[in-house]
Amino acid sequence: MACVLVVVTSATMACAQSSPPPNQREGKPALGRAPVPSAARSSARASAVARGAADTVPAPGSMPATAFPRPARAVATIVAPRWTNEDDRDDAHEAERVMALVGVKPGMRIADIGAGDGYYVVRLSPRVGPSGVVYGEDIVPQYLELLRERVTKQGLSNVRVVFGRPHDPQLPPASIDAALLIHMYHEIEQPFGLLYHLIPSLVPGGRIAVLDLDRPTWGHGTPPALLRCELGAMGFREVGWEWLRDGEYVALFEAPPVARRPTPEELRARLSRTPCLP
Ligand SMILES: C[S@@+](CC[C@H](N)C(=O)[O-])C[C@H]1O[C@@H](n2cnc3c(N)ncnc32)[C@H](O)[C@@H]1O
Repeated sequence: MACVLVVVTSATMACAQSSPPPNQREGKPALGRAPVPSAARSSARASAVARGAADTVPAPGSMPATAFPRPARAVATIVAPRWTNEDDRDDAHEAERVMALVGVKPGMRIADIGAGDGYYVVRLSPRVGPSGVVYGEDIVPQYLELLRERVTKQGLSNVRVVFGRPHDPQLPPASIDAALLIHMYHEIEQPFGLLYHLIPSLVPGGRIAVLDLDRPTWGHGTPPALLRCELGAMGFREVGWEWLRDGEYVALFEAPPVARRPTPEELRARLSRTPCLP
C-alpha cells in the first residue's frame, strides 16, 4: 500500500504517495494506518441509513455485487477521506482544471463519487449555484459525517449527501449531468458494478471524469491502459484527457445510453475475449 498517513486536522487524514514495498499484496493494510474493512462498512450501513445518512432515493433495480465479474487487478484499501493537503491541491489548480474539463456551469447536477470529506463538494457547490445540485457520495459512514458537518457549517443548501455501496452509488435515475471520481477509482471493490449502476443516473450524453495517478492500483493509482480497458468494456467513450502534475491525469468519458450498457453476462464474455490486465 502506497499511502502515507499525514495528519491534516484533528479529525481527518490524507493519503499521499510513497514507494510501495515490493511484496505489497492486494487489500493488505499498511502499517500505522487504519483501513476501513468492508464488514465494518456494511454493518455500519443499516444504522447509518436508519439515522438518515442519505438525502436521496436510489433508482430501483440494483443488482448484487456478485452478478459482476471481479476486476483482474488489485483493489487498494480505503485509508482516508481525502487525497492530500487542500492548499497544495489549490496551488496546483486541480479542482479548477477538472471543473473546466468537465464544463461545470451554473444549474448543473454533479455527483462526486467517493467524495470523502468534501474537497470537491465545497468547490462544486458555488460553481453550480442555487439552481444546481451536488451529490456528495461515499461508502464510509464516518467520512459522510465529516462531509455533512462541513456542508452544514458552510450552509451549502444545494448539496445532497448520498450513502452508496461499493458496487452501486445509489443515485436517483437520470439525475446527474456529470460524475467525478477523484483519487478513488483504484479503491472501487467492484468497478463494473459501480459503472453499471452509475449509467442510468446520468442524463443521456452524461460524462464521468476520472482523476488518478499513473501507477499500479495497489499503489493508489490506475494505469491509463487499464482505465481505458475497464471503462471501454462498460461502453464508455473517451472524450478528453489532460495530464496534471506528477503523473496525475484526468480522463473524461461519455456514458453509453442505458439500452446499450452491457449486461453482466455480456461483460463477462467481453472480458474473457479482451481481459483488462494490470
Ligand atoms: C483517497 S479518498 C479521496 C477523497 C476525495 N475524492 C478527494 O479527492 O480528496 C477516496 C475516497 O473514495 C471512497 N471510496 C472508495 N471506494 C468507493 C466506492 N466503491 N464508492 C464510493 N466511494 C468509494 C473512500 O471512502 C474515500 O472517501
